[in-house]
Amino acid sequence: MTPPPLLVTTDKSLLDELLRLAAAAGVQPTIARDVPEALRAWSRAPLVLVGDDLAPALARAAPLRRDGVFVVLVAPDPDLVLPVALHLGAEGVADLPRSEGWLVERLTDVVDEAPARGLTIGVAGGSGGSGATTFACALAQVAGRSGPAVVIDADPFGPGCDRVLGLDVVEGVRWEELGQATGRLSARALRESLPRRAGVAALSWDAAGRPGPVEPSALREALSAARRGHDTVVVDLPRAADPMVDELASRCDRVLVTVVTTVAGVAAAVRRCASFPDPGVLGLVLRGSAMDDDSLARVVGAPVLARMGDQRGVAESVDLGLGPVRSRRGPLGRAAAGVLAGLQARAEAA
Ligand SMILES: Nc1ncnc2c1ncn2[C@@H]1O[C@H](COP(=O)(O)OP(=O)(O)OP(=O)(O)O)[C@@H](O)[C@H]1O
Ligand SMILES: [Mg+2]
Repeated sequence: MTPPPLLVTTDKSLLDELLRLAAAAGVQPTIARDVPEALRAWSRAPLVLVGDDLAPALARAAPLRRDGVFVVLVAPDPDLVLPVALHLGAEGVADLPRSEGWLVERLTDVVDEAPARGLTIGVAGGSGGSGATTFACALAQVAGRSGPAVVIDADPFGPGCDRVLGLDVVEGVRWEELGQATGRLSARALRESLPRRAGVAALSWDAAGRPGPVEPSALREALSAARRGHDTVVVDLPRAADPMVDELASRCDRVLVTVVTTVAGVAAAVRRCASFPDPGVLGLVLRGSAMDDDSLARVVGAPVLARMGDQRGVAESVDLGLGPVRSRRGPLGRAAAGVLAGLQARAEAA
C-alpha cells in the first residue's frame, strides 16, 4: 500500500480546499496540525503539501531534505513565502486557486506512481528457440487476468512481443517513439499509451523495417515507469552477452531461463546461466520430459520452477492474434500460472 500524501496546516479554509482537491484525485491524505505530527509522517509520505501558516515553524525544525514537498497558500503574493519554501527544501510554491489543476494531478500521481513496484520477471532463452519469448508473453497473459501486466521487449531481433500477443494491430507507442526519449516517464502516461488488450500491454518495435535504436537510459526509464504502473512486468531478454542485458536482469526480481531438456539444450543453458552476474535470481523453466529436476538444477546451477510439455497449437494461436495461452489448462497456461503464483507468494512474504 502506498502511504497517503501529507497535508500540514492548521488553516481551516486551506485544509478544506486541499481536502476537496485530494477527494477529486481519489486520495485520502494524512493531516498534520502541528510540527511534531508533520515530522512523524514526513519521510514516508510520497507528497507533502505544507500550508504557509505552518511552513516557517516547520522550516525551523529543519526536517530531512526530500523530494515532493510544496508550500501551498491562498494569498495574492506567493513570492512572500518563497524564502520559507527554500529554507524548507520545497520544490516549489503552489498558490490556490491558480494551481488547483496541477495539485490534483500531483495528488493523482501519488496513487498512480506508487513506489510500490510491480513484480518484475526477466525471461531469457537457455538456447536459441527454447521458448523464452513465448513464455514471457504467456506470463503476461496469465498475470493480466488479475491486474495490469506488460511485456517489455528487449530483443530487437525477436518476433516482437506485441505480435506474439496479437497487439501488433493495436495502436500505441513503440520503441521508435520512446527509444530516444530523455527525462522522466510517467507511469500513467506509459500505461495509457501502450498497445493493450485484456489487461496485457507490450512495449515493442514497429513491425515494419529495421528496429529503431533504444538508448540505455530510455530502456531504464521505461522499465521503471512500467514497474510503477503495472502489477506485473515481464522483460524478454535477448540472447546476447551485453552489459545492458546484465543491468536489466539485475533490475528483475527473478530471471527465468527456458531450457530444452536435451543434451545440447542443457549445455547451452549452463553457459547462458553462467553469464548472469547474479546466479541467485535465476530459475529454470523446462521444456521436455528428459532428465530429472534435481540433476538439472545441479548441472545448471539454478532451481527448477516449472516443467512443461509442448503446447499444441501455440503457433496457430499466435498467428490468429490470440497470444500463446489459449486455455488455462494447457501446459503453457499451467506452467505460467504456477510460476507466477510462486513468485507472487515470495514477493508477499518478503
Ligand atoms: N511451450 C511451447 N510449446 C510448443 N511450442 C513452443 C513453446 N514455446 C515456444 N514454442 C515454439 O518454439 C518456437 C520458438 O519460440 P520462441 O520465439 O518463444 O523462442 P525464443 O527462446 O524466444 O527464441 P529466440 O532464441 O529466437 O529468442 C516458436 O515457433 C514457438 O511457437
Ligand atoms: Mg525470443
